[in-house]
Amino acid sequence: MNDQAQILRNLVQNQGSSEKRNTRVLTVTSGKGGVGKSNFTLNLALALQAKGLKVLIFDADLGMSNIDVLMGMTPQYNLYHLLKRQKTIWDIIQKGPCGIEFISGGSGFNDLISMSEEELDYFTNQVDQLNGYVDFIIFDTGAGLSKETLKFILAAQQTIIVTTPEPTAITDAYALIKMVHSMGHQVSFKLVINRVTDHKEGRQTADKIRLVAEQFLNLSIPALGYVDDDIHVSKAVKQQIPFTIAFPHCGATRSINGIANDFISGQSHLVSGESNTNGVKGFIGKIFRLMQK
Ligand SMILES: Nc1ncnc2c1ncn2[C@@H]1O[C@H](COP(=O)(O)OP(=O)(O)O)[C@@H](O)[C@H]1O
Ligand SMILES: [Mg+2]
Repeated sequence: MNDQAQILRNLVQNQGSSEKRNTRVLTVTSGKGGVGKSNFTLNLALALQAKGLKVLIFDADLGMSNIDVLMGMTPQYNLYHLLKRQKTIWDIIQKGPCGIEFISGGSGFNDLISMSEEELDYFTNQVDQLNGYVDFIIFDTGAGLSKETLKFILAAQQTIIVTTPEPTAITDAYALIKMVHSMGHQVSFKLVINRVTDHKEGRQTADKIRLVAEQFLNLSIPALGYVDDDIHVSKAVKQQIPFTIAFPHCGATRSINGIANDFISGQSHLVSGESNTNGVKGFIGKIFRLMQK
């Protein structure tokens, strides 16, 4: 039996036991800014959690954090305190609505141009401790291909690229895929088309990117799903309440719930009896090597 319920059972099989969870790492990114990455990340995390998975959101938009703003929270400690070795990973994990856990990227500071060896050591050791703590760590990155974002994309097991149907967003999404590909990296990309008028617009947008990637890069980039363009998203942002909580029946919430279902179904390859191959350990190993470059 390989239906969604079975996959979900496998994903959470360790819940309640003293055994650790199989932590998987997912990165959400985009070519262009403002396409809805943070809203998508937050609400997907909430939807997955509502289905019984434990999720940690890691805001990796260093210094420009807004996952916390979307929840109306001002965390005392954030990624900055971890990177500066002032706090432990457990000190900077915050609890948001519905118990969702997150790490804020902090605000008002620039990229840490380069981390010292000690800082890097500390960072990777701390993040390593998250192994087994949650089922999914979802990194929300900044837009475009900054050096930091690239590392998160390359180190994660799966990367979701968010775009809207606007030509500028499509072009930038493709440019990002092409750049990662041209650097010789194998990344498992999936597309989410946000702010679609209808299913058809979502499919057409996804097809454009998929076909070009297939033809010119020989890359398969499947669509994970489409999210309605919905005025409730903006309303929820203004209220600083995640839209899936503020408007549980709106179009965008329905889209996210559908994507969460499809996402879980798509994880069957990760639960088919194999113990975790690559979770946080693999992620940390890769990040460590990339940071040293
Ligand atoms: N599905 C949607 N429908 C309508 N508006 C949206 C949707 N997704 C995002 N937006 C709008 O776009 C703005 C930017 O979203 P945000 O998640 O902060 O983008 P990013 O993280 O990519 O910069 C939101 O404040 C909201 O007004
Ligand atoms: Mg954002």
